[in-house]
Amino acid sequence: MSRLNAAVVGATGIAGQQFLAALADHPLFEVTHLAASSRSAGKTYLEAITTAAGSTQWFCTEPLAPRFAQMTVIEAAKLDAHEVDVVFTALESDAAAELEPLYAQHVPVMSTASAFRMAEDVPVLVPGVNPQHAPLIRQMQAERGWQGFVVPNPNCTTVGLVVSLAPLQQAFGLDSVVMTSLQGCSGAGRSPGVIALDIVDNVIPYIPKEEEKVEAETRKILGTLSGGRITPADFRVSATCTRVPVLEAHTESVFVSLTRPATVEQVSAAMQEFGSEFTGLGHPSSPTRLITVTADPFRPQPRLDRVVEDGMTTTVGRIRACDVMGNGVKYLLVSHNTKMGAGKGALLMAEELVRLGYIGA
Ligand SMILES: NC(=O)c1ccc[n+]([C@@H]2O[C@H](COP(=O)([O-])OP(=O)(O)OC[C@H]3O[C@@H](n4cnc5c(N)ncnc54)[C@H](OP(=O)(O)O)[C@@H]3O)[C@@H](O)[C@H]2O)c1
Repeated sequence: MSRLNAAVVGATGIAGQQFLAALADHPLFEVTHLAASSRSAGKTYLEAITTAAGSTQWFCTEPLAPRFAQMTVIEAAKLDAHEVDVVFTALESDAAAELEPLYAQHVPVMSTASAFRMAEDVPVLVPGVNPQHAPLIRQMQAERGWQGFVVPNPNCTTVGLVVSLAPLQQAFGLDSVVMTSLQGCSGAGRSPGVIALDIVDNVIPYIPKEEEKVEAETRKILGTLSGGRITPADFRVSATCTRVPVLEAHTESVFVSLTRPATVEQVSAAMQEFGSEFTGLGHPSSPTRLITVTADPFRPQPRLDRVVEDGMTTTVGRIRACDVMGNGVKYLLVSHNTKMGAGKGALLMAEELVRLGYIGA
């Protein structure tokens, strides 16, 4: 099959750059259009990410592909979706709410934004976790009269949480979940971003709108699709989200009350075995394991574990019994917020939607 033409919208931001890093030399998709705000339009991509003082704001650890550096950035509102087969968007929610439907009328839109996550006819898809929600795409198309669709990935804090909870839900059932996050600074993006004066030597105990998103998205993703709607899972979720002076990756401390009792060994085995059918498909952006369980009591650590499987696995450690909750278990996880939690995670979902016939068919 020849490669599908792809646009990256919001290409100059943190999540957009991760799309570009993951899409350089991709076997299924060829980036033909780069778009951002009117501030960047008309400049080459390199000019658009370079400040007036000459500082190049390329954030990824991978080098910027020379081909992308020389492409001219267009204004997102002027992107003609007829010219591409798929659009990857990395926009703030307000811009996404306005622009994504314009593209989705014609082509699939894989989004990192929250604008459509809680819409009743929109599935929030996580690779290997809830493929059973994908058929909702056809309903969205029928109800909205779109040839394309919008599939958002979850908030970057939700991703690692749902990946770690899915095997527990399947094997033992979930009664309640309490999660406290320690989130990396890149999760706030460039604009306005996190100011060093505020975060160095500090912990910020509040991230606006984050806890509500994690609580609602987790129950939706692990819910049941029936009769054309997703019924959220009936377990309770309570989240506290904090920002810490870590560059990349979110660490989460998770307490779970299971429906049925399980030993630490059984929990660990369920996590390690989870998702092998999906990872066995060998998608280009796939990790070999959705969850990497570590026995080292000093792991996971964001600095060491965000690089495992190029940021596409959720590393879980310190699995212990918890006596405070019924059938309690507790653990820590590290999940890469801009790779699996944003650009590369949305790309992996697109690869799966190509296989399932929703993209490029
Ligand atoms: N950072 C993460 O870890 C992460 C993880 C998951 C999801 N997300 C989500 O991904 C989205 C992007 O986040 P980010 O962190 O990449 O933000 P960011 O670094 O601030 O980048 C924002 C991007 O949006 C563009 N933009 C801003 N206003 C626009 C407009 N009116 N029309 C068109 N383009 C516009 C910017 O273009 P200019 O450069 O031209 O201004 C830039 O490319 C957000 O919805 C965020 O919640 C982020």
